[in-house]
Amino acid sequence: MLLEGRKAIVTGASSGIGKATALRLAAEGAQVCLNYYSDNDKPGAKQAVKEIAKAGGHAIALQADVGREDDVTRLVSRAASEFGGLDLLVNNAGIENQVALIEMPLATWERVLRTNLTGAFLCLREAAKLMIAAKSGVVVNVSSVHEFIPWPGYAHYCSSKGGLKLLMETAARELAPSGVRVVNVAPGAIMTPINERLLEHPKEEHTVEEEIPLGRMGSAEEVAGAIAWVASAEADYVTGTTLVVDGGMSLYPKFV
Ligand code: NAI
Ligand code: BGC
Repeated sequence: MLLEGRKAIVTGASSGIGKATALRLAAEGAQVCLNYYSDNDKPGAKQAVKEIAKAGGHAIALQADVGREDDVTRLVSRAASEFGGLDLLVNNAGIENQVALIEMPLATWERVLRTNLTGAFLCLREAAKLMIAAKSGVVVNVSSVHEFIPWPGYAHYCSSKGGLKLLMETAARELAPSGVRVVNVAPGAIMTPINERLLEHPKEEHTVEEEIPLGRMGSAEEVAGAIAWVASAEADYVTGTTLVVDGGMSLYPKFV
């Protein structure tokens, strides 16, 4: 097992990539705290906790809005006291919606930045305090190919993911002397609830698939596998970089 005895938090773990990651980390031997956002998300997180317990693992579910400082402080300290420490944080929580730049209300911009970037910063800051004291730990941010590919209609989302790239690189430098690694995993188009609208329109889905050299969207489990590997000792010399998991999407297949 890749992560025997590790103590992990996964944010936004009630669905999609976060839930698949929590299940995979547990299957690799980690104790996992599944963070969920709201009452609507609670059943997804609780069901995963049950599944992990049934397989003989140890998991808990904790509510928190990653964009609220007091919520994050509570999340990290409760997870660490439950497990007796924290050595892996997966900053996965994220949201998006399509809005033309000139029509984007400030509140919409701020909501996406607060969740995707400020949320990752707050969790990273709180987790890093414990990891520095323990002189080891790994932080994995689930960014996106949109940390480097511009996407019309998603200026707030791209700004948040681009921000995650330099946050990761800066944190990697700052924390390396304390034995803490920081990396991004950048998925391409993955079949999860965030892409619900796309998956309900086969024509649009096909257009996206044409942008992917491997010819298909990815699964949450395929992203979870990459996160488990990069979090493990197998990747002990990997820090300050982005692992792209996109079926080749970022190779711009339509460019001739
Ligand atoms: P999803 O919608 O299933 O997952 C997002 C999760 O974030 C949900 O569980 C949601 O409850 C949670 N969340 C939202 N606001 C939150 C908050 N304030 N506090 C705590 N949790 C909150 O979709 P998916 O695809 O699993 O998304 C996970 C991450 O992967 C996101 O950061 C997304 O940007 C990223 N991503 C997804 C891709 C895809 O094609 N599905 C591709 C690239 C990146
Ligand atoms: C977005 C998805 C999109 C993918 C590829 C992700 O960051 O969340 O909605 O399909 O990038 O464009």
